[in-house]
Amino acid sequence: MKHIFKKGTDETKPVLLMLHGTGGTEEDLLPIANMIDPTASVLSVRGNVLEHGMPRFFRRLQEGVFDLEDLVFRTNELNDFLEEAANKYSFDRKNIVAIGYSNGANIAGSLLVHFQYSLKGAILLHPMVPRRDIEVPEAANLPVFIGAGTNDLICSAEETIELAELLEKAGANVDVHWESFGHQLTRPEIDAAKEWYKHQFTT
Ligand code: MLT
Repeated sequence: MKHIFKKGTDETKPVLLMLHGTGGTEEDLLPIANMIDPTASVLSVRGNVLEHGMPRFFRRLQEGVFDLEDLVFRTNELNDFLEEAANKYSFDRKNIVAIGYSNGANIAGSLLVHFQYSLKGAILLHPMVPRRDIEVPEAANLPVFIGAGTNDLICSAEETIELAELLEKAGANVDVHWESFGHQLTRPEIDAAKEWYKHQFTT
């Protein structure tokens, strides 16, 4: 997969897996990785699907309706890529924290739903429920931060709560941070995610 890898100055930190929203690229979330942890290594990936020229991580049939077959295929593809990248760049495959926005949050959520221990933690910014028809594998104490909008028309508040409950049922420790700026990614939620990350992954 097309990507950028930047080796951090502190290799004990998790590798930050950056996953952009629809129409984004692997460049987009680099400033956010830097805000969350400037010392961590960063693996920022571009989605392999194009929707009218806009990169995405998997196909959708319409707004909010995912192509499940493609979602499964692309989730496997990303999971395999993480293994390859860990070998190529010599980092610990088990030490990856995903940070995804919108479509990128949805593929990160899909990794959690399809694979046990694929991620060490996740910051999901404006995510949806990736699948309702399978059980989430046990994820005891998996730290998950959800940034959500009370008035997000794409990822509704109800769906945010549903996702948090699904992950909590699997054992994850979920923190939901609410803003009221619709689907936008905002500075206050990045600041909240940074605080959360600091608490979870640095001592
Ligand atoms: C998706 O298709 O993943 C969601 O609708 C979010 C987005 O607009 O990308």
